[in-house]
Amino acid sequence: MILQWSLFFMYIYIKVTPTEASSWTAAVPSSVKGLLGSYVVIPCSYNYPDPKTSTTGFTGIWYNDNNQVICHSDKSQTLDQFRSRTKLLGDLSKKNCSLMIEDLQQSDGGPLYFRIEIKGYDQYSYKNNKVSVSVSQPDLSVQEEVKEGENVSASCSVFHSCPTYPPSFIWSHSGEQHDQTQQLHEGQWKSTSTLTFHPNRSDHNKTLKCKITYHRGLYVETSKILQVKYAPDIKTSSKCSSEDGVVKCECIVESEPPSMVYFILGDRVMQSSKAEKNGSVTIETLQTDSGSFSFVHCLANNRLGYDNILLSIPVKGKKDLGWIDLSIFI
Ligand SMILES: *[C@@H]1O[C@H](CO)[C@@H](O)[C@H](O)[C@H]1NC(C)=O
Ligand SMILES: *[C@@H]1O[C@H](CO)[C@@H](O)[C@H](O)[C@H]1NC(C)=O
Ligand SMILES: *[C@@H]1O[C@H](CO)[C@@H](O)[C@H](O)[C@H]1NC(C)=O
Ligand SMILES: *[C@@H]1O[C@H](CO)[C@@H](O)[C@H](O)[C@H]1NC(C)=O
Ligand SMILES: *[C@@H]1O[C@H](CO)[C@@H](O)[C@H](O)[C@H]1NC(C)=O
Repeated sequence: MILQWSLFFMYIYIKVTPTEASSWTAAVPSSVKGLLGSYVVIPCSYNYPDPKTSTTGFTGIWYNDNNQVICHSDKSQTLDQFRSRTKLLGDLSKKNCSLMIEDLQQSDGGPLYFRIEIKGYDQYSYKNNKVSVSVSQPDLSVQEEVKEGENVSASCSVFHSCPTYPPSFIWSHSGEQHDQTQQLHEGQWKSTSTLTFHPNRSDHNKTLKCKITYHRGLYVETSKILQVKYAPDIKTSSKCSSEDGVVKCECIVESEPPSMVYFILGDRVMQSSKAEKNGSVTIETLQTDSGSFSFVHCLANNRLGYDNILLSIPVKGKKDLGWIDLSIFI
């Protein structure tokens, strides 16, 4: 990673370092990303062979890939739909061709290239130095599945080109939030928010949202559905009833992922005859003849853990003992 970054910066450094002073060259980043409706600045410098005679004027033009004039030193020659949104920021006589595009639109894509016309000398289109402009989409990353109670860290990031209005992040879940902005190269920043939080079972199947607000109240939102896994929890509302020698036991299990559920009656292991699922809760029903047993054991396990409960079988005329947690016997 570190090596990658240093290579990246080396690449940027080489790209923007003026090469031979006497040739038609230009330096622009290969891509710039900005937020929809915000602005981007494309840093640009250009060069030309030494004219030897005096030059009397510079005309700078930016074209898009349809060869439309998106910015011209003479504003009247800029295409209507771009006139109010583009501006040559750089001083052309100082070999600076930086371009600003305001109110960035999805259709501004480019690639764009610069052309210089030097009065009394020559002109050149820097078609070998194109820059693509794109609307950046935020990226939210969080583990595919998380365990209840664990420290989970999610991160939300976005590329932008507007350091005066850095984006701010709002998360849908409470937690410890840490925001930072780094400059990637001239004109390009990346802002990242990291949220450390403790998901619980009520977060399962819910969206984790990251809302990014920026310039003039604009915002973008991104979300991921949380998969929260936890060990089974057998509800104390589980119970048995008996009628005409037939025992019916309901074992109510909450877990993610769903558990394997067994009933043990004496030394027999039995599977339920019916399972009703509602979200993360499953009601498993055992129906059998009781023989002479007065207890049924219900067991549940998934890959995160195990739970069990001892259910009493009510005998006609005898008081229902309700449930007893087996742990008191262990
Ligand atoms: C070009 O002009 C822009 C806008 O004025 C400025 O921010 C940038 O530093 C200049 N670049 C160089 C290489 O001088
Ligand atoms: C979770 O992270 C916080 C700091 O972010 C730490 O104080 C806490 O001990 C961690 N808890 C667990 C269960 O790892
Ligand atoms: C889960 O966490 C939320 C807040 O993060 C809290 O309001 C809720 O009570 C928790 N639920 C349980 C079952 O612990
Ligand atoms: C499923 O459980 C929810 C509460 O967790 C309840 O409101 C809903 O009525 C249940 N649905 C069925 C079909 O039992
Ligand atoms: C998760 O949500 C989907 C769609 O909203 C639903 O079909 C599914 O039953 C839910 N699962 C759980 C375990 O709640």
